Amino acid sequence: MNHNDPVLIQVPEILATDHLLLMAPQTVDGDGVLLNFTVNASLEHLRPWMPWAQERPTVEQSEAIVRRMKAQFLTREHLAYFLYERDADGLRGSLIGGAGLVRLDWLLRRFEIGYWLAPTATGRGLASQAVQALSRLAFGALRARRVEIRTDARNHASRAVALRCGFQLEGVLRNDALGVDGLPTDTCIFGLIDVADLRDPSADRMAAAESAAAGLKSSG
Ligand SMILES: CC(C)(COP(=O)(O)OP(=O)(O)OC[C@H]1O[C@@H](n2cnc3c(N)ncnc32)[C@H](O)[C@@H]1OP(=O)(O)O)[C@@H](O)C(=O)NCCC(=O)NCCS
Repeated sequence: MNHNDPVLIQVPEILATDHLLLMAPQTVDGDGVLLNFTVNASLEHLRPWMPWAQERPTVEQSEAIVRRMKAQFLTREHLAYFLYERDADGLRGSLIGGAGLVRLDWLLRRFEIGYWLAPTATGRGLASQAVQALSRLAFGALRARRVEIRTDARNHASRAVALRCGFQLEGVLRNDALGVDGLPTDTCIFGLIDVADLRDPSADRMAAAESAAAGLKSSG
């Protein structure tokens, strides 16, 4: 048996954070319909950055995407998760985006994190929560040596996610990719090589609020 075969590596199909369930694609309970609804409702927001979000997909196209994602999850070529907001009971609520590990180098154990949210789910730290969960998975069960986030240099919201989670900007590759407008664009490379450097923005915000409150108290 080839013990380096990535197909044999155990990867959890569900990851939980305070507000999210990250769930690997399923083909039995209508993920294609949900994906179709969320992508179509998010198209204007996604179009500037996501090459796959240029045209309205049909339900059949979305279902085919889910099935391919599930197959690639099993072969460990692309570990895609759908992001479901947890309801008041902590159970699976609405589908609000996607995140996953792409460009997987199983030999070196280097992985790249990608993410997107529906516009109604932005501004609450949910992408950062997904990045933290995937980074912990990568450095934990998957024994990563390096985790990367790559963004279009013009995508300030995405760059902010990487920095907020403790990734370091390691370089900007000029004219590295074609933007969705067909013009060359620069790519920012963010890297993390030690899980101890991973930051939890929710905890950071809480600590900042507490220290501001303590400052007010002592000055009052
Ligand atoms: C990139 C993208 C996922 C970022 O979404 P986001 O909501 O800004 O990022 P987060 O989920 O980390 O939330 C951070 C925001 O929530 C706020 N926030 C509120 N509560 C928070 C909490 N508990 N923790 C962290 N942030 C919190 C932050 O202040 C920040 O808001 P600000 O930008 O107004 O300062 C989103 O813009 C998107 O889907 N873009 C289109 C697709 C895309 O570009 N994908 C990336 C390709 S590389």
